[in-house]
Amino acid sequence: MSSGAASVLTPAGPAAALAAEVSWVLIAGAALIFVATMGLLAAVTWRRRAPAAPLARDRSRLWLVGGGLVVPVAVLAALFVYQSVRGSVGVAADGRRGDLVVSVIGRMWWWEVRYRNPAGGPDIAAANEIHLPAGRAALLGLNSGDVIHSFWVPSLAGKVDMVPGRVQQLRLEASAPGIYRGPCAEFCGDQHARMTLHVVVDPPDAFERWLRAQAAPAVAPRGAAAERGRAVFEAQRCAGCHAVRGLFDGGTGGPDLTHVGSRAFLGAGTVRADPAGFARWVAGVQHLKPGARMPSYDRLDAESLQVLAAFLEQLQ
Ligand code: CUA
Repeated sequence: MSSGAASVLTPAGPAAALAAEVSWVLIAGAALIFVATMGLLAAVTWRRRAPAAPLARDRSRLWLVGGGLVVPVAVLAALFVYQSVRGSVGVAADGRRGDLVVSVIGRMWWWEVRYRNPAGGPDIAAANEIHLPAGRAALLGLNSGDVIHSFWVPSLAGKVDMVPGRVQQLRLEASAPGIYRGPCAEFCGDQHARMTLHVVVDPPDAFERWLRAQAAPAVAPRGAAAERGRAVFEAQRCAGCHAVRGLFDGGTGGPDLTHVGSRAFLGAGTVRADPAGFARWVAGVQHLKPGARMPSYDRLDAESLQVLAAFLEQLQ
């Protein structure tokens, strides 16, 4: 898994590779100017020690104008032209035939992800995790349901703001399978720091299997514990906000949970989606992520939490 600023310079797709190339060239240009300026400074200091003849004073003025003005202007102008020409290649976001179409909606504080259903019918809803096939580009439609968020997966592409009432496009392609982390890159309120997205890049056939599984409705609970967990889900009115397609339809306030058990994290990267994580999250949302729209269900006893976790975990 990649994260942090270092991943900008370890690209995993063509757009990020271009951004890394431009970054390295700009860093090299800046280093050139720095070394030249420091060299001149050292030379001038060295010469000052000796009493200056009138001719030498003239020559040092030439050095200052040449080294302090002409060289930096020439290098910066060259970098500016390079960056404008080369850098603009990477921001073209026009979709092409064969691109996978995915819409991503930023919300306080999670990511709604929707895929077109290959078999027709309504979109496939997921959350906080985008799956992509390696080597095939996806055209993302980026939007926001509330305030301005920003979509940024440093290993794959540059940053694009998600603005309410407007769909921005981003063409995203990953060369190799892997998991790439993306933080929300625009301050969007209390839990901006806990708004993490994961892009999971699968081999193409694994991706097709994943998409078919996501399109399917939820599996009915198996076993007594999961069956009781489903009853707790119903009694606590979780379905008022969360849809579990085929079992509880209609809820749209929170993430779709039809296949929540197949995701790696809950709460946009806050806790692991394993049985302990489900129970911890449901009982202590407001402790783990204060201000999130979901209340803490700390009135539930340990047994209810455990069976609820068993039900949710089975939603693969
Ligand atoms: Cu969403 Cu910051």
